Amino acid sequence: MSYKEQYELSINNPTEFWGQQAERVEWFKKPETVLSQDDNGIDRWYAGGELNTAYLALDYHVEQGRGDQLALIYDSPVTDSKKTYTYSQLTDEVARFAGVLASQGVEKGDRVVVYMPMVPEAAIAMLACARLGAVHSVVFGGFAANELAVRIDDAAPKVIVSSSCGIEINRVIAYKPILDEAIEISTQKPSSCVILQREQQTCDLVEGRDVDWTEAMASAEPAACTPVQSTDPLYVLYTSGTTGKPKGVVRDNGGHAVAMKYSMELVYDMEIGDVFWAASDVGWVVGHSYIVYAPLLAGCTTVFYEGKPVRTPDAGAFWRVCEEYGVKGLFAAPTAFRAVRKEDPECSMAAKYDLSKLKTIFMAGERLDPPTYDWVSEHIQRPIVDHWWQTETGWAIAGNHMGLEPGEVKAGSVTRPSPGYNVQILDSKGSPVGANEQGSIAIKLPLPPGCLPTVWGDHDRFVNGYLGTYDGYYVTGDGGYLDDDNYLFVLGRTDDIINVAGHRLSTGEMEEVVAGHSAVAECAVIGQKSDLKGEEPLGLVLLKDGVDVDEEELKKELVQRVRSQIGAVASFKNAVVVQRLPKTRSGKILRKVLRNIANGEEYVAPSTIDDPACLAEIEETLNKKGK
Ligand code: COA
Ligand code: AMP
Repeated sequence: MSYKEQYELSINNPTEFWGQQAERVEWFKKPETVLSQDDNGIDRWYAGGELNTAYLALDYHVEQGRGDQLALIYDSPVTDSKKTYTYSQLTDEVARFAGVLASQGVEKGDRVVVYMPMVPEAAIAMLACARLGAVHSVVFGGFAANELAVRIDDAAPKVIVSSSCGIEINRVIAYKPILDEAIEISTQKPSSCVILQREQQTCDLVEGRDVDWTEAMASAEPAACTPVQSTDPLYVLYTSGTTGKPKGVVRDNGGHAVAMKYSMELVYDMEIGDVFWAASDVGWVVGHSYIVYAPLLAGCTTVFYEGKPVRTPDAGAFWRVCEEYGVKGLFAAPTAFRAVRKEDPECSMAAKYDLSKLKTIFMAGERLDPPTYDWVSEHIQRPIVDHWWQTETGWAIAGNHMGLEPGEVKAGSVTRPSPGYNVQILDSKGSPVGANEQGSIAIKLPLPPGCLPTVWGDHDRFVNGYLGTYDGYYVTGDGGYLDDDNYLFVLGRTDDIINVAGHRLSTGEMEEVVAGHSAVAECAVIGQKSDLKGEEPLGLVLLKDGVDVDEEELKKELVQRVRSQIGAVASFKNAVVVQRLPKTRSGKILRKVLRNIANGEEYVAPSTIDDPACLAEIEETLNKKGK
């Protein structure tokens, strides 16, 4: 089938299209319907079907004779260690860890928070939850105790799985004190914690609450796979919204399994036995979809890398790993390649390695800027595929589909919508606009399998935040346009979310933390362009009347505040005191124009502005201190 045929079938007859895709999954009980609506009136895939995602990712392959094939390769330059797991070995570890969780009282439907660095035990914990039908919620290691606590309170986990420490380049980060503090400040206390002791820094265990991973595994009884409904949740992954409270994106089992398997072929052109490497972290959606679930569901070998693209030990890290394991598809954020380019502008390190197995490089997580595209393309001489998606969808909304019929590459475009996604550009009233006209990128319902059916514990937020703006559409929060060939151009977020080094962050949340400082009356946090990280937050701060502070000192305190309340990952490093903030007559801060000014872009004073003179004043202040 051509791209056009497949795409049209998926849009005109989604039931037939996704019914065919579901045939390729080994269900315990076949679905009764392909597409139906749940009690909330939300489209759901494969209702009545029963399956187990961990079975499909592991046991199934062993049964098919792939037990000795490598399932996971752990490569950790930060600890100078490597380890491999065959499908049989990984199945065994996961079954035993599921036994550990079961012995701690975890049952189908219970939540388990996983706060782990990039060690294989993180994947083992996730898959063990899936095996029991429990719902995992992985929290990225770069978040501070407060952020972890917010997620614990929302997910109300029975058990938390964590580790004594994580390693950042050459710095050990003690995870356990962060975990202890988070539990201390949360109201939903877990009944137990399973802690993986790492030799780089061990930790004390809390008696009666903490269980040692290794000891528990030594005596664990393997647990069987619990059948779950297709529509039962597999995981909750929190992502930044426009307010301080993160949103728990819910992923179901059935639609997810089908979408993961399909996308591994469609987008990444991966077949059984191929080696796939998503150089991300299990704390992000890329880690869930393309480090853990999709490669295993597709019978591939996944590379689990605990390191950075640079400084672990050098800018040849990507190429070394690609050679060593025969990586066929490499997926990373553009920022990672910008970091490599900065340290190795001529890409001389790549020439030292045999990259003959590497077929394609995939990028997502943030806009792929043309200079980065050109640099990688010129030096690596492989197709570079930009694809666009979000935590909410779990897989590519649009991309160049390497396993179907790759299209011509157009600079700045993420290529064409993936089958299943009826992508439309809407104007402010919700009417589709013509080709080449900019607007809000929306997806006409139904969303394809794998996309979120709700926000954990807050269905209204799902409806109001995503479905309520335009009747019959899911709004992505990104703006852009489709050209005459239906190629999609993504121009950036239309809300207060920024992308820093491929990490999605809420400026609203940072504003809440900055505004909490006793000297601050009001503030705006905006994304300022960064050559390395794409964007970095910049705080514009208005002091309370009569407050007299040293600006450098205040900046240090604000940086520390964001670091300790949100985490180092926010990369909040710059704050500037301003005399006024531009506002509308009704008192709303005009962040868009602030962004334009901070990035040296042309701007027009909005007609709603209260005091236009304030803009020149801000421009002058930022020119002096904001760079
Ligand atoms: N645990 C604890 N701290 C973490 C962390 C983790 N898992 N991940 C990042 N941090 C810390 C970093 O150490 C850094 O701390 P610092 O301010 O004390 O130096 C801070 O959070 C910011 O991290 P980051 O923005 O990643 O910057 P960096 O300078 O450490 O690395 C890159 C820059 C470009 C090498 C790195 O961001 C990278 O590899 N990015 C790829 C992005 C990615 O995988 N995105 C996922 C979507 S595909
Ligand atoms: P996350 O949910 O963390 O994956 O972030 C999703 C957001 O990242 C999207 O809504 C976009 O704003 C941005 N994004 C992801 N991939 C791309 C891409 N290929 N091009 C442009 N922006 C992207």
